[in-house]
Amino acid sequence: MVAGSASAPFATRLATTLGTTLVPGEAKRFPDGEGYVRLLAPVKGHDLIVAQSTAPDANLVELLLWLDAAREAGARSLTAAIPYLGYARQDRLFQPGEAISSRAAARAIAAACDRVVTVDPHKEEVLQFFGGKARSVTAVPQLAATLGAWGVDAILAPDKGARDRAASAATLLRVPVDHLEKTRLSATEVRMAPKEMDVRGKRVAIVDDLIASGGTMLTAARQLKQQGATAVYAAATHGLFTGNALPGLLAGGIDRILVTDTWLPGPCSCDLVSAAPAVAEALKLVA
Ligand code: R5P
Repeated sequence: MVAGSASAPFATRLATTLGTTLVPGEAKRFPDGEGYVRLLAPVKGHDLIVAQSTAPDANLVELLLWLDAAREAGARSLTAAIPYLGYARQDRLFQPGEAISSRAAARAIAAACDRVVTVDPHKEEVLQFFGGKARSVTAVPQLAATLGAWGVDAILAPDKGARDRAASAATLLRVPVDHLEKTRLSATEVRMAPKEMDVRGKRVAIVDDLIASGGTMLTAARQLKQQGATAVYAAATHGLFTGNALPGLLAGGIDRILVTDTWLPGPCSCDLVSAAPAVAEALKLVA
């Protein structure tokens, strides 16, 4: 397995889980920003996995370079294990003249490898853009195991579209599930409340695919506390934590934050579970 520089800890866990070794390699950047990679061990005839998240752009390019290097060096088959799939939110035209960014990225990746495994993409629909080469796995069971240990009483989805993922966690934990609905009260005020659930006295977890600015989780947590929730936990597969999201969440009413290791831009004052076992299972099935 090759560990891309965006996903080295994940790749190490995945290699350990699969009982395989990491191929030594060098990845660097030229002064003008262009990337360079080199495999430092032979891979001829090997079924090679390259683990690399594809955001931001430089990491997408690095994945393409690793796949090209491995193909050039004679790897028998190439699997891209993409813990966090970038561009999955632009899966269609929202306005005329835009790119379908997830399709553009998927086509480039699919052309360079034989199969793709990714974790909880923002929308499953983006997998079609890989031309039948991609499948997804979910890290929800890993998240749910920790939420269970925290004594969560109920699961909430931040919106109706995210309900299926939240419902899977709730089923595993045998607790009720609901989704949050937004009501605009004025030009500046938005109310977010569960569609039906009464959260008074409950320890609730909001389960989403990703936390970026943290705005969604923060707004929901503040309001759930006002509605009587005794604890609010934020759980997501991908912890992007742009800007000051992480300190902002902890200061703003979220009691604990749980993410997986699909994307960790830096030291994280949050709880972490690995998505590597879920990816390993999928890779064993396709081996
Ligand atoms: C939205 O559709 C996503 O599932 C997330 O809820 C959203 O992208 C989170 O973004 P942020 O943390 O910036 O609110």
